[in-house]
Amino acid sequence: MEIAATVAQAKAVVRSWRSHGLKLGLVPTMGYLHEGHLSLIDRAAAECDRVAVSVFVNPTQFGPNEDFERYPRDFAKDSKLCAAKGVGLIFCPEPAEMYPPGHATYVEAPALATGLCGRSRPGHFRGVLTVVLKLFMILEPDMAYFGLKDAQQFFCLKKMVEDLNLNLTVVPCPTVRESSGLALSSRNAYLSAEEKNAALCLTKALNKAESLLKAGERRGEVILGAIKETIAQEPLASLEYAEAVETGQLTEVKEFVTETLVAIAVHIGQTRLIDNFIWRG
Ligand code: PAJ
Repeated sequence: MEIAATVAQAKAVVRSWRSHGLKLGLVPTMGYLHEGHLSLIDRAAAECDRVAVSVFVNPTQFGPNEDFERYPRDFAKDSKLCAAKGVGLIFCPEPAEMYPPGHATYVEAPALATGLCGRSRPGHFRGVLTVVLKLFMILEPDMAYFGLKDAQQFFCLKKMVEDLNLNLTVVPCPTVRESSGLALSSRNAYLSAEEKNAALCLTKALNKAESLLKAGERRGEVILGAIKETIAQEPLASLEYAEAVETGQLTEVKEFVTETLVAIAVHIGQTRLIDNFIWRG
């Protein structure tokens, strides 16, 4: 496994693969890898000849009062996990390598970045799209793998790939959960045992919404009402948003008729967690 900390090193590795006609799959991450990330790596390995994983806590997608500094990092463990999965390259630049002094060009995020998480995190998707586009240009993957845990992120990236005619395919991958139902996230490391238990209200709320849909309920108001009520019952939780949006432009749906993303963001103590499901009728 190659480990590249500079753009030039990473480009040299992928250039040699390309010269052999190998198909490259990229899994962009911010490290502190868990089974969710590893499921993307497995999928990439199954579909591509070589897998590159980027490990980069991207400063431009964090707001000034967010957790960039304390975001969990464990590169030694990440590189062991990647080696065990047969990853060919880890690209792990320092911030100054990706954003040298004078860096001034950013991707303007599309309208679908403004609702949901975009509302409380202005500039977040601009940072995500910028860093992912840079990773695409540096590594030139044929395929790139993203989790639907971050559904809005996936839809924004898919739109960028379409709108900018990028020469690769983005692949959505299902959310990996603990047996309790809690979606895996690097930020779960912030939770105390008590908070982790409280975090189960996200799963409970989404399950409630799904069972209403299964029983034939289609009114957004009723479905979101059930979610809000479930979150309100957990004393350690405060709801940031619960929304139902169609999966094209991410605009609000009042009635569930087309494919609909039901997405929530909940604060458990100081920790912000997100989860969702996609209803396909
Ligand atoms: P990070 O949070 O490290 O996630 C990296 C990838 O893993 C993303 O595509 C995310 O959706 C996916 N992922 C996270 N938890 C998952 C889970 N429980 N099941 C399945 N997939 C999961 O998302 C980012 O980093 C960054 O924004 C990034 C795209 C790397 C740009 O900086």
